[in-house]
Amino acid sequence: MNPDNPLPEAIHGGSRFLRACLRQPVDCTPVWFLRQAGRYMQEYREVRKHHSLVEICKQPDLAAEVTIAAAEKLDVDAAIIFADLLLPLEPMGLDFDFLDGKGPVVQHPVRTVEDVRTLHTDRADELAYVARAIEKVAAHFRDCLGIIGFCGAPYTLASYMIEGGGSRDFIHTKQMMYAKPAAWHLLLDKIVAVLEEYCRLQVEAGAEVIQIFDSWVGSLALEDYRDYAFEASKRLVRSVQQLGVPVIYFGVETTGLLTQMAATGADVIGLDWRQPLDEGWRAVGPDHAVQGNLDPITLFAPLDVLEQRVQEILRAANGRPGHIFNLGHGVVPGTPVENVQAVVRMVREFRLEQANG
Ligand code: CP3
Repeated sequence: MNPDNPLPEAIHGGSRFLRACLRQPVDCTPVWFLRQAGRYMQEYREVRKHHSLVEICKQPDLAAEVTIAAAEKLDVDAAIIFADLLLPLEPMGLDFDFLDGKGPVVQHPVRTVEDVRTLHTDRADELAYVARAIEKVAAHFRDCLGIIGFCGAPYTLASYMIEGGGSRDFIHTKQMMYAKPAAWHLLLDKIVAVLEEYCRLQVEAGAEVIQIFDSWVGSLALEDYRDYAFEASKRLVRSVQQLGVPVIYFGVETTGLLTQMAATGADVIGLDWRQPLDEGWRAVGPDHAVQGNLDPITLFAPLDVLEQRVQEILRAANGRPGHIFNLGHGVVPGTPVENVQAVVRMVREFRLEQANG
């Protein structure tokens, strides 16, 4: 057992995935994929013919089915619960829709301190349907696969609430940050309060690891991350760890932010593909595990190119405990499923080649 590790002893031993999160030696690098259940997969499209995205999330049988089908089809080491980043907006009092081709749209974006004040923080239990789905997935996989719960990071969720959807320049978000810091910090406090409770529900239901998605944090300068987003992320990371599970903290275009992101104390830092994995790991530091970092569009490349990239990543990790193989961002629609399956085989065979060589 690693004496530096603050997590309870009960967690040790677990799946290959869980062990890698804790930087313990594994027989083979664990692998899973961000957005592994989604439109690129026939099974998911079938379910989507009859149900909206939010319906799937809210019906534990369906959410569990979609989660399990993807994990089994890909033969990965971890299953991430099928849900969406935006679900906590609803119990906070914000309605949203997913419009085809446009992504999420929030009906009444948060723009003023009054808007922030009216947000609820005491209704996270309305998200219990996610916990029910996790229970079903955990019962199905028992101890053979890692079970991942997730939530958005405070900055990324705040950006959806303020912009009213996805954004390129984050103008309204940064305006609130700079011009109304009291409203901004109150908003982040409220988001953290809801997410703490939401993560607690997920962990009690059987989530063994929580991934915090700070997908749009790369829009921030280092100084702004430090002054406006870091503290709230750190608080969330620490409270989730208090529940006794490791945290994966993930962002995109984070090359300049990695050292500061690691200072949240997250056990694992998710790396995008813009930097070689060993350089990213150096920025994160040896006392954190890393997850990543294949460019998701490499999955459209010929198999020999794909294999070369997969091997480069594994060579950069160099067998050090604490690497989880993943993409640098989510699987995109249209990705050939057989290439995703091929990556799993490549990761597993790479270890065998090394052992035999
Ligand atoms: O296996 C899995 O990982 C799927 C579960 C999952 C979904 N959303 C389902 C979903 C997860 C982990 C998410 C997280 C999520 N949601 C993030 C963070 C991950 C990331 O990619 O950075 C973000 C930013 C969102 C918000 C969101 N939800 C967007 C921007 C979109 C639209 C994307 C698009 O291409 O249209 C969604 C919709 C969504 N959430 C889909 C899925 C499978 C696709 C749309 C659908 O099925 O209708």
